[in-house]
Amino acid sequence: MADLNELKKAAGVRAANMIESGMTVGLGTGSTAAYMVERLGERIQTEGLKVTAVSTSWSTTLQCRKLGIPLIDLGEATHLDIAIDGADEIDPAKNLIKGRGAAHLLEKIVASMAENYIIIADSGKKVQTLGEKFAVPLEILPNAIGSVTYKVTKLGATLAVRMGAPGKDGPVISDSGNLIADAKFGPIADPAKLDFELNKIPGLLGHGLFIGMANKVILAAPNGLEEF
Ligand code: 5RP
Repeated sequence: MADLNELKKAAGVRAANMIESGMTVGLGTGSTAAYMVERLGERIQTEGLKVTAVSTSWSTTLQCRKLGIPLIDLGEATHLDIAIDGADEIDPAKNLIKGRGAAHLLEKIVASMAENYIIIADSGKKVQTLGEKFAVPLEILPNAIGSVTYKVTKLGATLAVRMGAPGKDGPVISDSGNLIADAKFGPIADPAKLDFELNKIPGLLGHGLFIGMANKVILAAPNGLEEF
């Protein structure tokens, strides 16, 4: 039985090998994306690959700096040739739940800018119905926590503000300075409708449902890679 990290690495390496010289590249966040970033750094060093990258989080930015991956500020970029990221749940239509790493607001902006949006994961992330295992992560303007909680609860969720920032007892704060909450809906029968409803809530700056965004999913299983 392959180790989970080996599977994540296999998916990350496969996606990083799809990057071509001259591309603008969006780099995701999380343990699987970190393997992709590591391989990209290696290709820059060994093959002289030339890319311009944007990052979706401070943790990815720091990794890029260490590896010599040239970054521009996300606000300077207009579109990207490719973006590669992990996910928490992936359904057969390539719809996703993302945001366990609290980076889903910037990750969705980067995904929306990419010509090609590629998801990498171990095969355990595959679900029949989104919401089977995970809650939907939210990023909420602190001043709107009361009204957003009320409105999301009315849509059928149980909402919990994410606590336990590393080394702290307080709430998790996103890289953009907002609160993160998890909205447990259970299995989501119509993710596109829920996406539409969540998008209408003022003060809810972002949520982890990524509907119709991914072009390709690369899943690593013990018996090899599956792509769809
Ligand atoms: C961060 C994310 C991650 O991509 C997602 O949580 C998957 O992470 P990992 O590869 O560590 O399982 O959405 O906001």
